[in-house]
Amino acid sequence: MDKLVIEGGHPLQGEVTISGSKNAALPIIAATLLTDEKCVLRNIPNLRDTNTMLKLMESLGKVVEYKDNTVTITSSGKINPFADYNLVSTMRGTFCVLGPLLAKVGRAKVSLPGGCVIGIRPVDLHVKGLKKLGAKMDIAGGYVIAKANRLQGRRVYLGGVFGSSVLATANVLMAAVLAEGETVIEFAACEPEIEDLSCMLNKMGANIKGVGSARLIVTGVKELKGVNYKVIPDRIEAGTYILLNAATRGNITLKGAESAHLMALDDKLEEVGVQMIQEGDCIRCKQLRKLHPVSITTYPYPGFPTDLQAQFMSLMAMVEGVSVITDKVYPDRFIHIAELNRMGANIRREGTNAIVQGTKQLRGAPVMASDLRASAALVIAGLAARGTTEINRIYHLERGYEKLTEKLTALGAKITREKA
Ligand code: EPU
Repeated sequence: MDKLVIEGGHPLQGEVTISGSKNAALPIIAATLLTDEKCVLRNIPNLRDTNTMLKLMESLGKVVEYKDNTVTITSSGKINPFADYNLVSTMRGTFCVLGPLLAKVGRAKVSLPGGCVIGIRPVDLHVKGLKKLGAKMDIAGGYVIAKANRLQGRRVYLGGVFGSSVLATANVLMAAVLAEGETVIEFAACEPEIEDLSCMLNKMGANIKGVGSARLIVTGVKELKGVNYKVIPDRIEAGTYILLNAATRGNITLKGAESAHLMALDDKLEEVGVQMIQEGDCIRCKQLRKLHPVSITTYPYPGFPTDLQAQFMSLMAMVEGVSVITDKVYPDRFIHIAELNRMGANIRREGTNAIVQGTKQLRGAPVMASDLRASAALVIAGLAARGTTEINRIYHLERGYEKLTEKLTALGAKITREKA
């Protein structure tokens, strides 16, 4: 298993190109199940998760060609609506084949994804929403087994204990586009990734109104056609580079990035003392003054994203003073605290809060990556720390950051990938 070795303390400089959004690409790939025609998807990042999704598409009967971040998906003539445990259990995003399979084939057997280190992650909202549209849903042997003749448009309320759900909205939306009549999804997720999926579905011939809002009005159509579609830039990758730029007091420009998708980060960084400036399709960051500690609470979009919580904590660990970090989307997503503390951070958990007592500088140490975003937090800490940091179990990073070591090296980071 490989590890990353980082020699910290080198401010980053130069230009980095932001890849296509992983979390937009995954449901967008699944949406190609809704048509027999050819779909060409551009700006698909080459990541472990997108490759797993494409493998799943092949196992479901699609023909997939992937070259230079463009995926061409065509039909082999028959869909096999069975999503195997071995693929779904490795990554939760695959669960969003359920809605399209049900809508297109009338039946689906999809493995339950299970929990992971960031939380229990149930699928009750997915099941509830699809049931509302008339599907018969059973859970047996670790699989969701769903059946329907033609789904029926209905009013579906998708609010859960933690607010809206991104993938439940994707599943219900993809089912509703081929349902008979009108579906109104209330408390839909407003994340840019769902907006992107809606735009792609409309381009395929779907009729979705309220795109990007918490109320999606879908008038069902009989069939969808093929599409040529470009996925939005990855706002979480962009946010990660912005935070590591602040942590290393660097001067980098992000190319192909969209600050409108990062409003909450922009707002908080201004309080910290960093200004994000959009210039054309680039984001530049300017340090305005000595950095201040700032508290954050994560919420569904447009709130502060849970997928940047660990990286923000890493920055706060290096800003003198106290900040409080609370995650309202995944209240237990704090596994990175112990690893950051190994590097000299002073963070303690009190109930649902993490109290960060920022210190001037972290020190390099051997640490363990535990999930994708926690790993990104360790990369930020390692790049800014004094001395050498070794990050083990880096396969987590390969799930969500395209060409991470190449991009960082081009920015002047001292980072190498070695055999552990
Ligand atoms: N939830 C329920 N019931 C459900 C579904 C979700 O209670 O049926 C809860 C979850 O346990 C969580 C909250 O609702 O507390 C929000 O979860 P959501 O369903 O929105 O998460 P998701 O759709 O499974 C996506 C991203 C995650 C990201 C979350 C929140 C993809 C493939 N994954 O997951 O991304 O953290 O939304 O924004 O889109 C990552 O990229 O590192 C990642 C984990």
